[in-house]
Parts: sequence; C-alpha cells; structure tokens
Amino acid sequence: MKPEIVSPRREKLLSSLQDMDAVILFAAREAKLEKFSQENNFLYLTGLETPNAIYFGIKSNHSNVEYLFIQRSDPEREVWEGKKTTPEEAKAQSGITNVVFLDEFDGIISNWCPAINRIYSNIGHQAINAPLSYAMFRLKPIKERYPQIAIQCITEKISPLRKIKSEWEIMQLQKAIDVTGKGILDIWENAQAGMMEYELEAMLFYRIQRSGLKHWGFAPIIASGINAATLHYEKNDCQIGTNDLVLMDVGASYMNYSADISRTFPISGVFSERQKDVYSAVLRVQKEIISMIHPGVSLMDLQKRTRELIAQELIELKLITEASEVGKYYMHGVSHFLGMDTHDVGGRTAILEPGNVITVEPGIYIPEERIGVRIEDDVLVTEEGYCVLSQNIPKEISEIEEILKARQ
Ligand code: GLY
Ligand code: MN
Ligand code: MN
Repeated sequence: MKPEIVSPRREKLLSSLQDMDAVILFAAREAKLEKFSQENNFLYLTGLETPNAIYFGIKSNHSNVEYLFIQRSDPEREVWEGKKTTPEEAKAQSGITNVVFLDEFDGIISNWCPAINRIYSNIGHQAINAPLSYAMFRLKPIKERYPQIAIQCITEKISPLRKIKSEWEIMQLQKAIDVTGKGILDIWENAQAGMMEYELEAMLFYRIQRSGLKHWGFAPIIASGINAATLHYEKNDCQIGTNDLVLMDVGASYMNYSADISRTFPISGVFSERQKDVYSAVLRVQKEIISMIHPGVSLMDLQKRTRELIAQELIELKLITEASEVGKYYMHGVSHFLGMDTHDVGGRTAILEPGNVITVEPGIYIPEERIGVRIEDDVLVTEEGYCVLSQNIPKEISEIEEILKARQ
C-alpha cells in the first residue's frame, strides 16, 4: 500500500473525532513459527505489515498529530528474524512523519494523557470470560493513571470508512475474486470421485499462489456429500463419493482483501434430478435476492425475503409443509459485508450504500439426502443498483455440466 492510499484514511478518521480524542492502534504481534498476519484496522490506516508497531493519532486544537512507534533492530535477533522495518521505510510507506522506537511510547503518551478525553483502540470484544486483548492489556495502566480517559473500541469509528470501498479497494477484491474463480475452474477440470476433499483444496491453493497471491481469505470449505450440511466444515479430509455433490466455499486474499465464493457441483459430472431440483431452487432464490440490491435496502430486508423464498421452495420440494419450518433446512444469514475481514465490519442490519460490497449466499441443507447446496456471489452496491463482482464464475447447471464434461 502507498501513503496516497492510507494517509487520507487517517485524515478522515481523525477529523471525525472530537478535539482531544485519540486513536491508539496496536499492530499484530509476531508469534514464533506462525505466519504473520497484520491486524486489519492497523493495516487499513498505516499500510504497514510491520509487527508489534503502535500507531498514535490525536486531534488537538483541530489539527492532527501522529506518531508511529516501531521496534528497534537488534543485530542478534536479525539472524533469526531478518531485518526490521526501518524508520525511513515506515515513513515512506505510511506517510507518518514522526516515526520513533517503541521504547519512547510511554514517555510520549504520558505527555498527552492529562489532556486526552477518549482513546479509540483495537481492543476487540471484551468478553468477561476471555483474557484481556493485547490492546486492553497495554491501555490498562493508562486508564488506571488517568481515569478521565474513556477507552472505546475503534470499530464504531472505523466501520463507516471501511464499509465504503474505494475504487482501489474494489480492484484488489476483484483480483482476489478472479483468481478464486480460476481456481474453481481448475477444480472442475480436474476433480474426480475417489479423490480426497483436500486434494481439491490443493488445486485451488496452487492456483492462488501461482497467481502471485499468498493467502486464503479464510479456511476453505470443500465439503462432499453429507459434509455439506455442516455449514463451516473445514476438515476437508473425506473421500468424495461417486454420486456426491461437492460444496466449495472458498476465497483467496489479495492485499488483505478476501473473496468469498460458494459453488456446488456433482462430482459425477451430471446433477441427478433431485440434486438439480434443490440446486435450481437455491439459484432462483439467489438471483431474486441479488436483483433486490440497491442503495436504501437493508441487509435485514434481504434476510427476510430469503427466508420467505426458501420456505416456498422447501414446500415445493416437499421438505416442509409450513413456511415457519424453514429453519430446518436453511439456518444462516444470506449476506454479510466483505472486505479485509471475510465477515467485514458494518454489521448485519445496515442499510446499503454505494460502495458497500456484500455476499449473497442462500443455501439448502438436507443431511438425510446427503445434499447441501450453497451458491455465494460477491456484489458491489452501486448508485444504480448492483454489480456482481463474481459474475464470471459459472453457476448455471448447464454451464457447470459442460465444464465437467471436458474433464480427462
Ligand atoms: N465462508 C464463510 C461465509 O460464507 O460466510
Ligand atoms: Mn463463504
Ligand atoms: Mn460468506
């Protein structure tokens, strides 16, 4: 990321604060032998993948003051961990002028504290039965020393920014979606009954990394047969049976923006009549819900309509007799915001605005018939209505069967 992208975000955030309110964001901490993954609010505002850093911004006398605190390099540790980000690099990447080392944090913050009213931080959910988040652990001494300072979660301040995607953000998401789509095609061109679910996962991950992307956006779901009825099945360790439907819920991440796509297909290459009926029911509902999307519609409206439509379909499929029984075969939300987090900030009840990106993902799950179908697309809300960012990933029965026919 570049300062031209992240500096305006910080300016917007700080200008939305009251005078003498501050933001303190903690970068993710390095964990030994684990891949580093930056905290998304920190990344959104600084563009830095630097571990253990701290961002401090304050609106003071109606102008903004900012500091970035980073780790000092330690030649002995460099043998193990490689070079640390230098102050010059951090400044060039983030656009923050005051870059100092972490050991100056206490001194600099103490000077500001007597005048600060509120600190917004990435404290996360503070469940009473969970350990303190790292941010809360670091802010506790400040709160004890300066009880007038209210500590609040950054989410309420940063969600309004993060949920409206810029053109640049949409380009990153589009790339994540396109590569995910190519990987799904790889699977359709190569998967065979008898393979393990994780072999299909490997085909897609190979495509992701060969395309210059590094990560999954979330743990991929490759669920065959009855496994598709487990909504967040992630084991992917079963053998695919000859007549199984396979539900794939997958997404690559690019520049920390996550795709989230579900497609369901018959490993045999041809949907059975019953599989076809269930699949067509889900597809009809999905298309109808997508067509409702425009600014002013709420996520709750989409959810309510989905339940109504799926209930009608389930009655047609002779699975239920009363609409009130819909929860027996459809039990999850139809939509969530998508972005740096797969389940992105913005809530589940928001009213849609241009620049939002949401998923549309109805499903029907019938464990007694070994059938689970979910079809999920990623949709940008536009001034006029919507644009399906994943429109190039086939979902019609005829298209999927045609592709599967070409398998060796
Ligand atoms: N892959 C998780 C979800 O669709 O929400
Ligand atoms: Mn999904
Ligand atoms: Mn989703």
